[in-house]
Amino acid sequence: METQMIRNRNGQINIVLHDKKEVRLENTGQVHYIENRPFMHIDQEFSSFVAMKELKRTIKEIYATIVINEKREQLGLTCSKQVLHMLFKGNPGTGKTTVARKLAKIYFDMNLLSKGHFIEAERADLVGEYIGQTAQKTRNLIQKAMGGILFIDEAYSLARGGEKDFGKEAIDTLVKHMEDKHNDFVLILAGYPFEMERFLSLNPGLQSRFPFILDFQDYEVDQLMEIAKQMASEREYKLTKEAEIELRAHLTRKTHEIKRNFSNARYVRNVIENAIRMHAVRLLRKNEFSTEDLIQLTGKDLHIDTI
Ligand SMILES: Nc1ncnc2c1ncn2[C@@H]1O[C@H](COP(=O)(O)OP(=O)(O)OP(=O)(O)O)[C@@H](O)[C@H]1O
Ligand SMILES: [Mg+2]
Repeated sequence: METQMIRNRNGQINIVLHDKKEVRLENTGQVHYIENRPFMHIDQEFSSFVAMKELKRTIKEIYATIVINEKREQLGLTCSKQVLHMLFKGNPGTGKTTVARKLAKIYFDMNLLSKGHFIEAERADLVGEYIGQTAQKTRNLIQKAMGGILFIDEAYSLARGGEKDFGKEAIDTLVKHMEDKHNDFVLILAGYPFEMERFLSLNPGLQSRFPFILDFQDYEVDQLMEIAKQMASEREYKLTKEAEIELRAHLTRKTHEIKRNFSNARYVRNVIENAIRMHAVRLLRKNEFSTEDLIQLTGKDLHIDTI
């Protein structure tokens, strides 16, 4: 976004944001206006993610704050460094890991992280078996994650054994480092909503250290259908109308069953990947097929009666 600093009579500085940029052509002197789309890059990076409105909005807010902070800094105004540590709460297959991976890239592009790599860890990567080992293991992991994102899945498993457990030492070490080194290291703790709530209530100091808490909602049937069609099209397949109707009916049933056992977009991915295998077997048996046959996934290929 183009910005302009204007100092008024009282010496106050006004920052004017332009959503249009003036471009003068050298040869003709003609003036053109190019529309500025400050969030285009973020929109592009998230274009393959269905729904996730809250997340997309949060990332845009972070980006806007950074740009404006830079402008403020140029004018000698106070600007505080943003702490970017995050908590992700969501049921299986709602996109927590995929989004965290994407953020590593986006933060690197935004110059917020110097390397932009992604390290996924679980309890065993942090917690040792004897006294002193845990702090060392956790420190090593943080060291490896410097310049990137450290993503700890099922974070509550760190508090599994209560006060005497070495997991507590891992949490304390993480907390210490997330404050000391927050400028070039982003910690994301992720897990299922109920367990995360409990984990945070048992570790009261923790929540306030994470300025961003994101809820990954279960997907609605319409969203799951959009994900399914997108997953098929990314692989250059297309669901027939009849397959779409069957899949919609199936997903409607599934989402009404116990939510806990339903793995949202991952479930859809499995259905599509399974259908692609079934489709291949069907065509090979037929041994004669058109281009259209090679593309179309039918209701039969979905094989959803048995899943
Ligand atoms: N909004 C979305 N749009 C498109 N694809 C999605 C979306 N959300 C998730 N997916 C896809 O669903 C699959 C599962 O996502 P992911 O592994 O990130 O879920 P998760 O929340 O980390 O699950 P778990 O809690 O089981 O680890 C991935 O293939 C991912 O690309
Ligand atoms: Mg995951």
